[in-house]
Amino acid sequence: MTSPSELNETKQNRVLSEEDWRQKWETRNIGFHENNIHPLLAEFLNEMQNGRTKLNIFFPLCGKAVDMKWLADMGHNIVGVDVCEIALKDFFSEHNIPYTEEAVAGIPQAKVFKSESGNISLYCCSIYDISDSVIGKFNGMWDRGAMVAVNPRDRERYSNVVLSLMAKDCLYLLLTVEYDPKLHKGPPFYVSESDIENLLGPSCTFRLLKKIDGLTDRHKQWGLDFFFENIYLVTPKLQS
Ligand SMILES: C[S@@+](CC[C@H](N)C(=O)[O-])C[C@H]1O[C@@H](n2cnc3c(N)ncnc32)[C@H](O)[C@@H]1O
Repeated sequence: MTSPSELNETKQNRVLSEEDWRQKWETRNIGFHENNIHPLLAEFLNEMQNGRTKLNIFFPLCGKAVDMKWLADMGHNIVGVDVCEIALKDFFSEHNIPYTEEAVAGIPQAKVFKSESGNISLYCCSIYDISDSVIGKFNGMWDRGAMVAVNPRDRERYSNVVLSLMAKDCLYLLLTVEYDPKLHKGPPFYVSESDIENLLGPSCTFRLLKKIDGLTDRHKQWGLDFFFENIYLVTPKLQS
């Protein structure tokens, strides 16, 4: 039988490379993509908006999330980052949004795809190459399939990038997943509340808004018998 420490080690050692993700997109092995607005975003959008309009909203590891179009249509400015060009081009073509393509000053090999209307900018590069000097800071963030998709060994690095992009008034909605990690190796990876405390707790407060039963046939095929989605509201601690 696998001991808890061996199990933890297996989980922590699981690594997907950027090439692995590109292959998923090339072969359309993208079961994580949802064609509908995420119900938890719809339910808790007001927690992010908090009465504010025209937010600058960041989508880390954005894929081709339809939520970006939904929020852009409300008048928000959207910035996403994904390492896979296919995902970003699909996003624009599937929504019939005309776009331009440019190099990114300061990040060799990176490209940015911008909607002609100017309110959606999707950067094609690694999240680890991004900084606020390139894309600015944000007062809203939607993290679905992002923190749970990064390799566990890279989670701290990922969190530090996200933290560095938060403006003082940032309201960050974070989705995590909870399942028996003995039965599935991820991604998505199980991120516990103590992981969030360790990663974000020193500079942010966080509050669980809702936990829902998200078990689908896809998860049952992985051998899971429970699968919860947790949505947290993360806000920067006030600096003195
Ligand atoms: C599970 S998918 C989720 C996509 C999207 N957030 C959604 O909810 O549909 C994770 C995405 O992260 C991208 N990705 C993986 N590693 C990355 C990295 N280091 N930098 C930027 N994007 C990355 C993948 O290409 C993939 O589109």
